[in-house]
Amino acid sequence: CSCGAVERERTLAMIKPDGLSGNYTEKIKAAILDSGFHIVKETQVQLDAERASLFYAEHSGRSFFDSLVKYITSGPVLAMVLERPDAIAQWRALIGPTDARKAKTTHPNSIRAMCGLDSEKNCVHGSDSPESAAREISFFFGDGDSGCFLQYLFHNSE
Ligand code: PPS
Repeated sequence: CSCGAVERERTLAMIKPDGLSGNYTEKIKAAILDSGFHIVKETQVQLDAERASLFYAEHSGRSFFDSLVKYITSGPVLAMVLERPDAIAQWRALIGPTDARKAKTTHPNSIRAMCGLDSEKNCVHGSDSPESAAREISFFFGDGDSGCFLQYLFHNSE
């Protein structure tokens, strides 16, 4: 495993179609680097409905699911693996609340306040737990990385 120091953690960040089409990528990357993250890898992909439904499988029973799949497939997304200590919580803090309208009032310095519109067009995604980070990194970047990540989790649980 080439994970490096055990205190480092990885999370999956995704710039959604409205973030890419609104030309926010460079601003978002600057905020990422300013906050001490290392961008380990990145890939820009166009998801189809099948892949998008798989990515958001945990939300399949929710009323907004069809709309969410339609939106996330409306253009390319940029997936990134971010690394730093406490990366999962730190990235969630940096992006702000799900509803970008709320972000604009309660978290004005957050990324969603900068480039989001509402709960659907909220510009960016972040893994919410070590389990989803491992699954989502594997989803975009293959099993090699998640194997490394699982080994890291195993180390930390000892
Ligand atoms: S959380 O953190 O999982 O509790 O957030 P949640 O509010 O449950 O939202 C999960 C993802 O669903 C998206 N979402 C919506 N899409 C379309 N319409 C509506 N109304 C809506 N509400 C929430 C939201 O952007 C979350 O996407 P990700 O990519 O996980 O941030």
